[in-house]
Amino acid sequence: MSNPYSYCIEKMIRRNKVTIIGAGNVGGTAAQRLAEKEMADIVLVDIESDLPKGKMLDLSESAPIYGYDVCLVGTAGYEETAQSDIVVITSGIPRKPGMNRDDLLRVNTGIVKQVTEAVVQKSPDTILLVVSNPLDAMTYAAYRVSQFPRERVIGMAGVLDSARFRSFISEELDVSVENIQTLVLGGHGDSMVPLPRYTTVAGIPLAELVSKARLDALIQRTRDGGAEIVKLLKKGSAYYAPSAAIVEMVESILKDKKKILPCSVLCQGEYKVDNAYIGVPVKLGRKGIEKIIEINLTPDEEVCLKRSVEAVQSLCTFVDKVL
Ligand code: NAI
Ligand code: 2OP
Repeated sequence: MSNPYSYCIEKMIRRNKVTIIGAGNVGGTAAQRLAEKEMADIVLVDIESDLPKGKMLDLSESAPIYGYDVCLVGTAGYEETAQSDIVVITSGIPRKPGMNRDDLLRVNTGIVKQVTEAVVQKSPDTILLVVSNPLDAMTYAAYRVSQFPRERVIGMAGVLDSARFRSFISEELDVSVENIQTLVLGGHGDSMVPLPRYTTVAGIPLAELVSKARLDALIQRTRDGGAEIVKLLKKGSAYYAPSAAIVEMVESILKDKKKILPCSVLCQGEYKVDNAYIGVPVKLGRKGIEKIIEINLTPDEEVCLKRSVEAVQSLCTFVDKVL
């Protein structure tokens, strides 16, 4: 049988192409958001072969109503992913109620290894954007397996965690989310490091607007942000905000916007971190990570970041054994 997507294969060679591995909640919603912004042609891959085909067909049938012209391909193979500009890895199993992110480690390491090997064969120059949990350890696994330079293996977590902190601050103060700027550093786990000192509301330091007790509660809610959603959804984890975070990162790369965003990156001396993936502010552009921005931390903040790095490093030691 001829390839049902042959009509768009030619076009996809000339235009931006984003592949998303994993057609579940995060991958499917990211595909929808990217299509609606006409950001790129999209290839959605899943081990469940009909799932990506069904989702992409459904998305294609929404295009005339919503008004977007992009090629949308669903597949269980990697042929159509060739020469992707960016590959977003969301394949894995999500966290279930009562399950710690770290419980996912063994099974998701195997999945990330398998998909990274397949992706790299077809797109040796791509940028890998890892989403699968536990995030920092899975990004490290993709880095090791791909053997790409660190600039092209990036983890998504800080944008999501910062968005959660922003949304809780906006609710607390009853002001627009657009007024709030913040940074959440560290690993994507219980040890993440929200930074109120680098948080402003229309330029006003957050500490001038919120009491210490309320601030502590907002920070804790941010740390528990993923678990709060899991508890409510019962059958899976968050995907609207995670997919929005993916799109912000993809857009900064494809349009070479050079946004400064907190991302999980391999620090090699930066922040006194020796060879570990951890969330820090970076400049994201067409080449991937174009600069790691080093900000001053207080001794207390440094201690929190160090603790977070240690938590991630113990997972990476386990990843090394699995790989
Ligand atoms: P989901 O279960 O809805 O989708 C995962 C998909 O991956 C499934 O369709 C499954 O068939 C597919 N898959 C499994 N093995 C595969 C393989 N070898 N090749 C291709 N596809 C494969 O899960 P959801 O909600 O989309 O989450 C995906 C991952 O992202 C999970 O690990 C989750 O914990 C993580 N996550 C990370 C976030 C972050 O901030 N970094 C935020 C939200 C989710
Ligand atoms: C989250 O934070 C599950 O890591 C995912 O929602």
